[in-house]
Amino acid sequence: MRSLCMVTGAAGFIGSRLSSRLLDEGWSVVGVDAFTDSYDPEEKRERTAALVRRPGYRHVAGDLAEAPLAGELEGVEVVFHLAGRPGVRESFRIEDRYRHDNVVATDHLVRAARAAGSVRRVVYASSSSVYGDAPLPFREDGPTGPISPYGQTKLEAERCCLEASGAGLEAVALRYFTVYGPGQRPDMGLRRFAEAALDGRPIELFGDGSQSRDFTYVDDAVEATIRAATAPVAGMAVNVGGGSRVRLLDVLDLLGELVGRPPQVVRRPFAPGDARHTGADLARARDLLGLGSTTAFRDGYASEIAWLAGRRATRRSA
Ligand SMILES: NC(=O)c1ccc[n+]([C@@H]2O[C@H](COP(=O)([O-])OP(=O)(O)OC[C@H]3O[C@@H](n4cnc5c(N)ncnc54)[C@H](O)[C@@H]3O)[C@@H](O)[C@H]2O)c1
Repeated sequence: MRSLCMVTGAAGFIGSRLSSRLLDEGWSVVGVDAFTDSYDPEEKRERTAALVRRPGYRHVAGDLAEAPLAGELEGVEVVFHLAGRPGVRESFRIEDRYRHDNVVATDHLVRAARAAGSVRRVVYASSSSVYGDAPLPFREDGPTGPISPYGQTKLEAERCCLEASGAGLEAVALRYFTVYGPGQRPDMGLRRFAEAALDGRPIELFGDGSQSRDFTYVDDAVEATIRAATAPVAGMAVNVGGGSRVRLLDVLDLLGELVGRPPQVVRRPFAPGDARHTGADLARARDLLGLGSTTAFRDGYASEIAWLAGRRATRRSA
């Protein structure tokens, strides 16, 4: 019989890719998602439509902060908890929504998972935003210091999971570093840059472009997430990064090369809440999750741009 897991946020960018990979590996998946308005819910429904066609997948549409979860968790062995409200800038505007989707929903889910009895592990999708502008490289046992309501709510949710970790139910918090690749969220920088470049529109750049990010290819993040279900990481936070830092100015140069013309750029002031640099110490991920080499940024961004170009061509011809 197939083992059963739950993926929350299964209609999202990473959650849908994770669900698909779990089905490939022979799991049955209960996907939960509320199709929130954080970006066009149509994109979330498209991803879900592709999943429900596959044997072994069942979708539950509901708000995790409120839905009765006991029935849905029956027989579930692992909960991959990716549902949440991402995005730093919006979190200054609608902090209460972030608190609801990140903290209240996590608390409700963790209590239900403990009560269910069958759940042996919760794998939580935390974020590099919990570090804020901490010294590089960010280490799991080093200081945290969120500089946005988003980062603060992710840290609180992470603590809620890790404090619940113990006999009977184990939890691990994966701190993802800027995940990108095919299917990326429309509000994220790399996708906005690529869409503008493909349209021949100017790219809005917040800050002077000297900021750098440890970009993580989505399939590498998914691999780490699946390994975290069984690896000896109970009760821990683990960084999931791409292994190298790229400056935004270098991203723009590469983008110009990949689309065949240099992008036009419109400068905007630095946005509050955006860390200047992010960089993961990956020792724990290597030692405990056994993560090996990761996708080179050039290859990963080329895949994202090819996916975007293909998606746009399909839409135009539809
Ligand atoms: N993408 C990244 O770079 C990144 C980096 C760090 C952490 N994360 C975390 O990883 C997770 C997945 O990120 P993503 O980029 O795939 O985001 P996403 O927005 O595409 O996916 C999150 C999904 O959760 C759902 N959701 C939100 N609140 C819910 C609720 N209360 N009940 C049920 N469903 C709800 C949304 O509808 C959405 O489909 C998030 O928790 C995010 O904070 C992402």
